[in-house]
Amino acid sequence: MHLEQVRQAYAAVADLYIELFGTSQQSHVDDLAFIGRHLSGRPGTVLDVGCGPGHLTAHLRSLGADAVGIDLVPEFIAHAVASHPTGIYRLGSMDTLDVADHSVAGILAWYSLIHRPPHELDGILAEFRRTMSPAGTLVIGFFDGDEIDAFDHKVVTAYRWPADVLSNRLARAGFTEVERLQRPGDDTQRAQAAIAARLSI
Ligand SMILES: C[S@@+](CC[C@H](N)C(=O)[O-])C[C@H]1O[C@@H](n2cnc3c(N)ncnc32)[C@H](O)[C@@H]1O
Repeated sequence: MHLEQVRQAYAAVADLYIELFGTSQQSHVDDLAFIGRHLSGRPGTVLDVGCGPGHLTAHLRSLGADAVGIDLVPEFIAHAVASHPTGIYRLGSMDTLDVADHSVAGILAWYSLIHRPPHELDGILAEFRRTMSPAGTLVIGFFDGDEIDAFDHKVVTAYRWPADVLSNRLARAGFTEVERLQRPGDDTQRAQAAIAARLSI
C-alpha cells in the first residue's frame, strides 16, 4: 500500500482519532506497563515510529526515556507538539529513518505496522535494525489473529498477525522475542497483542 494513501486516510480522521485514542489515559494499563518496562530505564534515544497523537512518546518521556515521536501525518505532529511542548516530534517515515546507524536504544511501533502488507515487513525491520544499537529493544503492538489476514480497518486496510508468525519474522530479522502480551477480543475490541524483542545480532 502506498504511504500517501495511509497518510491521507489518517489525516482525514485525525481529529476523531485524537479524541478517541490521543491520551495515555485512553490506553490499556497493561500496554502502558509493557511499553514502559521495555523502553525506559536505559540510556539512549527511543523512537516512537508512527506516534500518531504522540501520547505514548509523552508516556515514555514521563518515565525518563529520551523518546522522539515520528509520524507521516502533519496533523498528528502538530497536535503532539501543541499538547506536549517539551517533547520532540518529527514528520517522517519509519521506512527511511533520519538517524545514524546503531544510534537508538529502542523503537516502539505501536499499531503503526498494521497497515503494511506482510511482504513489506522485512524491509522495515531491516531499517529498524540498521538504526539500533547492540541489544536495542523493539516493541510492536498489533492485532492478533489465527492467520495473517487483511481486514477492513476503520481508517484503511489493516492486517492481523498470529503472534508466533510475527515472532518468527522478527527472529529472521535478528530480533529475539523477550516478552509477549495478548488480550483476547470481545464484542467491542479485536484481539490485541504486543511483542518485545531484543536485537540479537
Ligand atoms: C493506528 S495508528 C497508531 C498511532 C499511535 N502509535 C497509537 O498507538 O495511537 C498508526 C499510525 O502509524 C502512522 N504511520 C503509518 N505508516 C507510517 C510510516 N511509514 N512512517 C511513520 N508513520 C506511519 C500513521 O500515520 C498513524 O499515525
